[in-house]
Amino acid sequence: MKNILVTCALPYSNGPIHLGHILEHIQADIWVKYQRFFLGNNVYFICADDAHGTAIILKSIELNIDPLLMIKNNLSEHKKIFRKFNISHDIYFSTHSKENYYFSLLLLNKIKSKNLLVKKSIMQYYDVDKKFFLPDRYIKGICPICKSKDQYGDYCNICNNIYYSHNLINPISLLSNKKPILKKSKHLFLKINSFKKKIEKWISLCFLQNEVKNQLLYLLNKKLIDWNISRDLPYFGFKIPDSFIKKKYFYVWFDALLCYISTFKYFCKINKFSFFNKFWKINNNYYIYNFIGKDILYFHGLLWPIILDILNFKKPTSLIVHGHVLINGKKMSKSLNNFISGKDWLNILNSDSLRYYFSTKLSFKINDINLSLDDFIKTINSEIVNKFVNIPSRIYKFLENYFNNILSGEIYNINFYYYFVNKFNLVSDYYLKFNYKNVLYEVNNMIDLLNKFINDTQPWLLINSEKKIKKLHSFCTTIINIFKIISIYLYPIVPNLFSKIEKFLNLKLSIKNFHIPILNHKISKYEKLFLRVDKSIINYFNKL
Ligand code: 2FM
Ligand code: ZN
Repeated sequence: MKNILVTCALPYSNGPIHLGHILEHIQADIWVKYQRFFLGNNVYFICADDAHGTAIILKSIELNIDPLLMIKNNLSEHKKIFRKFNISHDIYFSTHSKENYYFSLLLLNKIKSKNLLVKKSIMQYYDVDKKFFLPDRYIKGICPICKSKDQYGDYCNICNNIYYSHNLINPISLLSNKKPILKKSKHLFLKINSFKKKIEKWISLCFLQNEVKNQLLYLLNKKLIDWNISRDLPYFGFKIPDSFIKKKYFYVWFDALLCYISTFKYFCKINKFSFFNKFWKINNNYYIYNFIGKDILYFHGLLWPIILDILNFKKPTSLIVHGHVLINGKKMSKSLNNFISGKDWLNILNSDSLRYYFSTKLSFKINDINLSLDDFIKTINSEIVNKFVNIPSRIYKFLENYFNNILSGEIYNINFYYYFVNKFNLVSDYYLKFNYKNVLYEVNNMIDLLNKFINDTQPWLLINSEKKIKKLHSFCTTIINIFKIISIYLYPIVPNLFSKIEKFLNLKLSIKNFHIPILNHKISKYEKLFLRVDKSIINYFNKL
């Protein structure tokens, strides 16, 4: 049995959980459920709110609320939404914790003792109107390297280069839409250039998508610029002890990355688990999988392994990187009026429908994932409603009218039944490789075949004679059993539907007895398993 730690990137606690977060958590959760249910591995799935930084203080000013209260409220709201999407976190914590502060100090001291800390003055952009030093993501301008327009202060998503914001051409503050001024400030920096070889080695061992590997190697080829790990007030975060530098706070990304560690530490503490150190020990048989979006690859593909190296902790087994969510082909954003929060979704739709739809698009690639509402409606209604859950309803009346809902003692066509059972390894392998799109391709072929089997057999013709009735009984039993097999294949993707199917089958399903048909067993009354999606949802989302 394997021990695996799974993380998702920490959502900022300055706003609601939206479909971008949900995509990542669904991608991770499907894999977690697969690992637990199919393979019986021990998976610890952790996440937390990212509660520090300029974005948090700005939001609390805008809402006129104490930042502590704001992050507390958001934390409970975020947890609630993830629960409703059936995301099986073992713990959902916050960067604003004493455990996380402990690791921030620990890392800072290690950095110092390894002679990797430098203090230097730099010119930083400052918004005179708003009286704020501007974070890199609050400035836009022309990339100093490839001259592309509309690039952030730290990174160009056209040429993929990293630079200092003061090198950006024609910068504009996103807070006031005015040109910021350069102001001098002293900061702490982590020297990272000496880690190149180590990171290169980790990249060669890590399970990474090809595009990700190439992008990281490209970044590594450049000079790795020192990482500024401190920030000026106004800020919301952990204060750096004066002995290091006066009146400064830890940069949000410094303690956010550490929060993967502190959350797991806290989780082990409250559960009295003794394996915290074992997990992070180098060359140990424990595995770490970080699910992230492509926009934060630099932090996770370079800075995160560097931090782990400094702490002498194990580096990730794999980074699983996904693209952005698009709504009807456009980037989701409040200004484009196409922003969908998790709560908006749950107001009118169930969580399984989104889990299913995203899965039709997820295949271990980093391309963007488009949620086209028309296509969503078509996919859910044709694949889940018309084809999959329609299967038991096509034969249920026979079981109820002739057999008192009790399955027969035999399977009608055992080879046909085993055809579906034998797909296990193929399906399992696709899950293992994060290729949910192919899982659904296989499963839909199976569903089509099963529907065809019902059409070809024409069970309604079997009710004419005593002998045929027996045949009808084993036929319906076979259909129910194959439906059970396919439901198990679908479990990680549509867990709520799976629970309803368990109720209908009157059985707790497990992988242990997966291939053994259920015979001479009474099933429950059939009730609708999945609701058709109505076209009116398009209006609802348009009016948000
Ligand atoms: O990009 C983001 O939304 C960040 N809040 C992610 C932080 S993940 C990590 F550092 F823990
Ligand atoms: Zn560029």
